[in-house]
Amino acid sequence: MEEKKKRIFSGIQPSGELTLGSYIGAIRNWVALQNEYDCLFCIVDEHAITVRQEPALLRKRSIAQLAQYIACGLDPEKNIMFIQSHVPQHAELAWILGCYTQFGELSRMTQFKAKSAQHADNITAGLFTYPVLMAADILLYQADLVPVGEDQKQHVELTRDIAQRFNGVYSDTFVLPEPFIPKLGARLMSLDDPTTKMSKSMPEGCVNLMDPPEVIMKKFKRAVTDCETAVKFDKVNKPGISNLLTIYCAATGKTMAEAEAAFAGQGYGVFKPAVGEAVVELLRPIREEAERIVTDKAYLESVYKTGAQRAQYLANKTLSKVQRKIGFVAR
Ligand code: TRP
Repeated sequence: MEEKKKRIFSGIQPSGELTLGSYIGAIRNWVALQNEYDCLFCIVDEHAITVRQEPALLRKRSIAQLAQYIACGLDPEKNIMFIQSHVPQHAELAWILGCYTQFGELSRMTQFKAKSAQHADNITAGLFTYPVLMAADILLYQADLVPVGEDQKQHVELTRDIAQRFNGVYSDTFVLPEPFIPKLGARLMSLDDPTTKMSKSMPEGCVNLMDPPEVIMKKFKRAVTDCETAVKFDKVNKPGISNLLTIYCAATGKTMAEAEAAFAGQGYGVFKPAVGEAVVELLRPIREEAERIVTDKAYLESVYKTGAQRAQYLANKTLSKVQRKIGFVAR
């Protein structure tokens, strides 16, 4: 008998442009996983509204993000690709799971602490309960593995705790998910400040997937380095150059030793534009394809509608089971 494929769930917020960091750190790995696993890839718009969004922009970005997922090589036939708010079971399960999550647990989430410091004038209940919604995303589909960056590991661990608690009270209901941190998932740092993560919330040092070549080149030429001259990987003393080397390797497939050798004896004036060129070539086909797909509204609509239907089918199975177990009257 054929072994059942493991299930994967992951998502990205449409709260800004997709970045080179999200491509190299996440989406490119998803593409590699889509044949071996049973995958759901979500556009988590309900997460995005935990901080204030411009409505027209949120709508536009949600659709553009789907086009970009496809342009990166995610196949809507192989994967379930959908928009979170199209599957109401996420919000429903989140309410229920919130009643099995401690206030203290949510208070300890480092991302909550960071984001509430960043948005001190708008610390909403949604921002606080965000990890519960994320737990619902994952548990609804009985996901085995959740590809995430280091910064989301704590949320996946909380998801496990909630699932385990629920299973303990009501008997086995949820699969316990595991964070899946890909070995090749290079973490890119800001070009502006190589000690902080490249992030859409800091657009200055961030390369976007859809940036045209001249913008990419400009960002790399301006990248912060150090006052030495050697192109050498040394994270502690040369964070800027190390980050550029990491990006160069990720874009070209070269090893670190090959990259260092290629630029031995050459200054940063040669190295920085070379990294820019490598990124331009990596992103060119993706940008061109995404620009083409995004104009095909009918196609995109058919993808997200089919995705939502398929997701709802799976989500409903879990939600009904949960509702029955906790004592809700069957509809
Ligand atoms: N919280 C994640 C982030 O900001 C996005 C996300 C929401 C997610 N739900 C998820 C990731 C479920 C993995 C699984 O990056």
